[in-house]
Amino acid sequence: MPVAGVARRLIVALDTSAFDEAARLVKLLSPHVGWFKVGSVLFTRHGPAVCRLVKEADAKLFLDLKFHDIPNTVHGAVTSALELQADMLTLHTAGGEAMLKAAVQARRNSKKPDVLMVGVTVLTHLGFDEFHSLFATRRSPHDTVVALTELARRTGLDGVVASAREVEAIKQRTGSDFIVVTPGIRLADATRDDQTRVVTPRDALHNGADYLVVGRPIIAAMDPAGACQKILENMSS
Ligand code: C5P
Repeated sequence: MPVAGVARRLIVALDTSAFDEAARLVKLLSPHVGWFKVGSVLFTRHGPAVCRLVKEADAKLFLDLKFHDIPNTVHGAVTSALELQADMLTLHTAGGEAMLKAAVQARRNSKKPDVLMVGVTVLTHLGFDEFHSLFATRRSPHDTVVALTELARRTGLDGVVASAREVEAIKQRTGSDFIVVTPGIRLADATRDDQTRVVTPRDALHNGADYLVVGRPIIAAMDPAGACQKILENMSS
């Protein structure tokens, strides 16, 4: 049965390459959480079978494959993702206007208007120096995030993936109906792993985030269902 309340806004990242582990997590967590994120590691190894795993548990599928290619190829990739019953998918906004429009056209053709398409702007692992030498631009990473967000909005995407710290600036530019999906979520007393700029679930929602992506704090816990409940309680508080 689909979950209700804040659980509909929590996405558990299935960051494992093992099919059996993904199956265990989906079975344990699907009564508590609305969404599962399948990324390139799990999908490259196990393909559509992991998508079926999520859909058969009556959960929503966030297929995070970050499409970035010529428009015709991305049109085909989005069409394939929609055939896998993805409910949300990602694209690199740096692919440009024609690529993003081709993706939106693929959704229009498939008559699945409710599927959410969200853009990735500047990858967060890029430091300031690498960013500038890669893109040979004087524009700051922050201004680039804003510009790519505006491109995503203009071309018909539904939202972007961004840090909870950027949500307010994004919403000011785009309006509240443009969704923001935020990773980097940790409870106040939790280990940060390799995330440097973390935000609590409650603060992320308070800042305006629409969906929270949580991986290790739930999937690496001794009791994933209990860890999930703690995150949900914090989201509700
Ligand atoms: O384990 P953790 O909660 O840090 O996982 C966060 C998830 O969000 C991972 O799947 C990671 O790849 C993804 N992500 C991220 N930072 C971004 C974009 C995506 O952590 N900027």
